[in-house]
Amino acid sequence: MNFPKDFMIGAATAAHQVEGNNMHSDYWAQEQLPHTSFAEPSGIACDHYNRYEEDIRLLADAGLNAYRFSVEWARIEPEEGKFDENEIEHYRKVIACCRENGVEPIVTLMHFTSPVWLIRKGGWEAESTVEDFRRYAAYVAEKLGSELKYVCTINEANMGLQLAAIAKRFRLMAEQAAKSAKSAEGSVQVGMNFEKMMENMKYAAMENAEIFGTPQPQVFVSSRTPEGDALVLRAHRAAKEAVKALYPEIKVGITLSLHDLQALPGGEKFAEDAWEEEFRHYLPYIQDDDFLGVQNYTRTQYGPQGQLPAPEGAELTQMDYEFYPEALEHVIRKVREDFKGDLIVTENGVAVSDDSRRVEFIRRALRGVENCISDGIPVKGYCYWSLMDNFEWQKGFSMTFGLIAVDRATQKRTPKESLAFLGSQRK
Ligand code: BGC
Repeated sequence: MNFPKDFMIGAATAAHQVEGNNMHSDYWAQEQLPHTSFAEPSGIACDHYNRYEEDIRLLADAGLNAYRFSVEWARIEPEEGKFDENEIEHYRKVIACCRENGVEPIVTLMHFTSPVWLIRKGGWEAESTVEDFRRYAAYVAEKLGSELKYVCTINEANMGLQLAAIAKRFRLMAEQAAKSAKSAEGSVQVGMNFEKMMENMKYAAMENAEIFGTPQPQVFVSSRTPEGDALVLRAHRAAKEAVKALYPEIKVGITLSLHDLQALPGGEKFAEDAWEEEFRHYLPYIQDDDFLGVQNYTRTQYGPQGQLPAPEGAELTQMDYEFYPEALEHVIRKVREDFKGDLIVTENGVAVSDDSRRVEFIRRALRGVENCISDGIPVKGYCYWSLMDNFEWQKGFSMTFGLIAVDRATQKRTPKESLAFLGSQRK
């Protein structure tokens, strides 16, 4: 395709999803609870902590020139105020490995996982988190800043509000079920244990209380209150200022999870309100950032009654959302109406078992990016999610987003056709 010479084409990962043994993190703790909602624990994940050289080499050999990954707060500051030099050394080596392979490292400071101690203090609803995150960001910048050109502070800062909306719907359903658990079981022709499910939630709350000192720990991927939402953005600004104070030339931005929100006749107001909540209300906090990380996977359509399911007969991905690569171009154009800085597609991808569908997805998504660039929109890079099949949070290892397959028993890497295809797009 016709991309500018310095255009970055890369792939993304997040520490907890690939490294393995992230033992001081909130996610690790939640995965071990007897009544956990995780399908399986992350364990050694893809053992990327030890195999990063092989993984970065595979990425570079295929022709990619950027690697977006996260440094893990729970490793770097496992106890409040105690920083681990060895872990910084580890990430220094990962960055050096990128450079040796001609790959630009794009580093994310916080990709969903936090140290357990932070959550015990109230996590992502506690005012003290702004200062704790600033101090951590300043430490990482001091140690690694001289090696970096791009830093993302927080991954998908808007995730908490999206979850709050879903949780509200879910709560209403659960309340209904609780009122009539026994009769609800009789109304469905499959063996369901609603009473047991409710019971499990009670146990999980008790188990959380033991570890985090509260039955409802505020991890990053929890439903956010509007106050928590603003706090996350203030944490972003504090971290950005800390990085800039030491290295003003580093380009700093945040990333947002953005859907292509489409209105069918009568659905306009729903789509507008959703865009306001998902994107526009963040503008005061991000307007003067060097770049915005755009993360898009699919579209959402609205009709006169609100959100619609995927259209009849649409191709669905393993994640159960619509295969719709055109969403990326639409989102970039929509973001550009209000955000004038540079854009980097920090995530875009698809979970499918048939890799030829991934090739098709990437082909169409990149065509959209190319269209945007030729219309003068400053898109500086595209990172596919994900470099390898990995730990998809509560869903465990069942989702295959990767450009590289990972054998769970042997950790053997097998590059897929899509890896070579993505690499070939730079030429
Ligand atoms: C997250 C990733 C996740 C991906 C696929 C994004 O929301 O940043 O951590 O694995 O989507 O679901």
